[in-house]
Amino acid sequence: MGFVKDRFKVKADSVAAEIKQIIAEHGNKVLGETTIAQAYQGMRGIIGLITETSLLDAEDGIRFRGYSIPELREKLPKAPGGTEPLPEGLFYLMLIGELPSEEDVEHLSATFARKSHVPNYVFDVIEKLPISTHPMTQFSIAITALQKESIFAKEYANGINKKEYWSYIFEDCMNLIARLPRIAAYIYRRKYKNGDHIQPNGMLDWAGNFAHMLGYDNKGFYALMRLYLTIHADHEGGNVSAHATHLVGSALSDPYLCFASGMNGLAGPLHGLANQEVVKWIEDMCQELNTNAPNKDQISDYIKKTLTEGKVVPGYGHAVLRKTDPRFTAQMEFAKTHCPDDPMVQTVWNVYAVAPDILGATGKIKNPFPNVDAHSGALLKHFGLIEEEFYTVIFGVSRALGVLAGLCWDRALGFPIERPKSVDTHWIKAFIKGEAVKED
Ligand SMILES: CC(C)(COP(=O)(O)OP(=O)(O)OC[C@H]1O[C@@H](n2cnc3c(N)ncnc32)[C@H](O)[C@@H]1OP(=O)(O)O)[C@@H](O)C(=O)NCCC(=O)NCCS
Repeated sequence: MGFVKDRFKVKADSVAAEIKQIIAEHGNKVLGETTIAQAYQGMRGIIGLITETSLLDAEDGIRFRGYSIPELREKLPKAPGGTEPLPEGLFYLMLIGELPSEEDVEHLSATFARKSHVPNYVFDVIEKLPISTHPMTQFSIAITALQKESIFAKEYANGINKKEYWSYIFEDCMNLIARLPRIAAYIYRRKYKNGDHIQPNGMLDWAGNFAHMLGYDNKGFYALMRLYLTIHADHEGGNVSAHATHLVGSALSDPYLCFASGMNGLAGPLHGLANQEVVKWIEDMCQELNTNAPNKDQISDYIKKTLTEGKVVPGYGHAVLRKTDPRFTAQMEFAKTHCPDDPMVQTVWNVYAVAPDILGATGKIKNPFPNVDAHSGALLKHFGLIEEEFYTVIFGVSRALGVLAGLCWDRALGFPIERPKSVDTHWIKAFIKGEAVKED
């Protein structure tokens, strides 16, 4: 057992003991009321999940184990000569609950490099798909194909003690995280670079090696990948990809099946696909206006037109956040250093200058400010990764860190199968009338 696994076990045992006591002493304390509107409208604001890895505040944004994004950029270990945090460090923080040392991060980089081999049958499965298949579909199928490697599934079939679940889940999560950059890069090079694949470089960190395998071997893109894979990793537990991974895991499906489910959710346009949609929206606007530098008046008119057509302005709004997403701000700062004159970056900033007032004036959009997806595409485009259909796959590689750290916690804490109560509208109508309603 590696020392990260040992440390995780010690932490998890201590938290499990605390939780046992909390439930014994305070288990009946009421966390909140549920309204009819919440039941119909996406369960907003209902506290019904425990996720240890990160916590989202509507005003402050995401905090990973108490650390904000600017703090992570300052405090997490960086690659030698690098400017951005190494995502392995964030994974350690989410898993263990403490900031890692340089050695801890080096250990994780080396572990992921050692475990990164992807069996050929996975590439064969990808090769059987039409080249036009969306990269997220290819990614999800490849992850599901890789499920054959699950140690947890094999050991469960052999019969294992409940107390040992976490250990095999942990091994699967580490193996899966290690393999994802290779799978994602394979899909990219197959679809967009004529299958001219690039072998991994085991001396590089997890994000650096991903950048290398994608084919972008320059300092700026390495820095972008390290930042990107850090800031997209987690957003507490109720978002679609995290919740799907957690929910499927509660049935004791192994991490490969859980993560594929999470990725199928991330592929939705209201969730992770929004980064692709933002770029398309900007490019459509530029094409319609016949310029690559629309002014603020033109952008304002285009936003109003989008709303009039009954479409969403991608990259704006959030189910929980009520301020500019700090992940947007981190990318804006990165762009100010690396590419302030890029026309698409300038357009992203000009949209930011006008969109919140227009969206706010509708009176119905609860958060008129940009989210993480409003900026990421313009940065990737700047460095030459122009194929926006691939953007959500990069998001997915990052999201693995948070949701799989979460899955380790779920099993270590022995969380049961998830099964909230649902009712039908007949039940709701009877409830409103105060009539007795039969529950199952
Ligand atoms: C993220 C999102 C799905 C959150 O949805 P939500 O919690 O239901 O948001 P709200 O409560 O503010 O929605 C209220 C109304 O405003 C609309 N709205 C929210 N964001 C909007 C946007 N960016 N553009 C246009 N309309 C928007 C909703 O569609 C909803 O309209 P309806 O009442 O006619 O159905 C939503 O803001 C959205 O679709 N944004 C664009 C896609 C995106 O960027 N997704 C990435 C999220 S990280």
